[in-house]
Amino acid sequence: MGGDAFTEERSAEVVAASFAGDERLRRLLTGLVRHLHAFVREVGLTHEEWAAAVDFLTRVGRFSDDQRQEMILLSDVLGISMLVETVANRTGGGETEATVLGPFHQVESPPRELGDTIALDGRGEPCLVTGSVRDADGAGLAGATVDVWQASADGYYDVQQPGIQPERNLRGLFRTDADGGFRFRTVVPRYYPIPTDGPVGELLRATGRHPYRPAHIHFLVGADGYHPVATHLFVADSPYLDSDAVFGVKASLVREFRRVDGPDPYRTVHFDIVLRRR
Ligand code: BEZ
Ligand code: FE
Repeated sequence: MGGDAFTEERSAEVVAASFAGDERLRRLLTGLVRHLHAFVREVGLTHEEWAAAVDFLTRVGRFSDDQRQEMILLSDVLGISMLVETVANRTGGGETEATVLGPFHQVESPPRELGDTIALDGRGEPCLVTGSVRDADGAGLAGATVDVWQASADGYYDVQQPGIQPERNLRGLFRTDADGGFRFRTVVPRYYPIPTDGPVGELLRATGRHPYRPAHIHFLVGADGYHPVATHLFVADSPYLDSDAVFGVKASLVREFRRVDGPDPYRTVHFDIVLRRR
């Protein structure tokens, strides 16, 4: 440890000088300390505020278990999760943009055949989803995995409504055809609130924020030799597209779910996904 005096001006430097060992870890901790110390100085953090923050973070930790990750939810509502995604995908190329994975991919999606429906109870407005998985040159990727999950027409995931929705409702694992194409049937998802029964809900209420996410279908797409992408397909006429509680919306991921009239009206959407080569 260095012998420098710990003063308000030099506090971060003094603490940074105490770190030894792994270079990346030192860089991360040094940056963290620099920003946290600057924050404390900038806002003039009081004892009471510091104690309230410690109590809040302790409760966020205690609220988390195998089923519920309140710490990630906190990262989501503070925009940290989306910023990590954005920094990790600083490609600037034409690849499909990533967005938050979210907490509802906690069960495996059942393998399904192309063209199958994932709406096991058939409740909601029927929807046909078509698309493809391609490389940056436009070549279709055969045999790519397309894992999809979504909320119901009432805005709930199957795992939030055991005994009401069938197990694995609105989930499916598909493989693309020889041209990289995929298609499946489903229902149009609805916007929904993120969980607000824990400390993160308190934070949203205390700051006058709503908990809603705009309607979307999750996609986790992978192919040999390419970086997997976790992304969403957003419904263009959904509320909350401009105020997603977790800041997950990218303009490139919003699509119109077109109405098709006829004796059995339905909506349809097309989504081409471009993967980045490893
Ligand atoms: C979701 O889209 O499933 C989600 C993402 C972040 C927080 C909560 C839910
Ligand atoms: Fe979701």
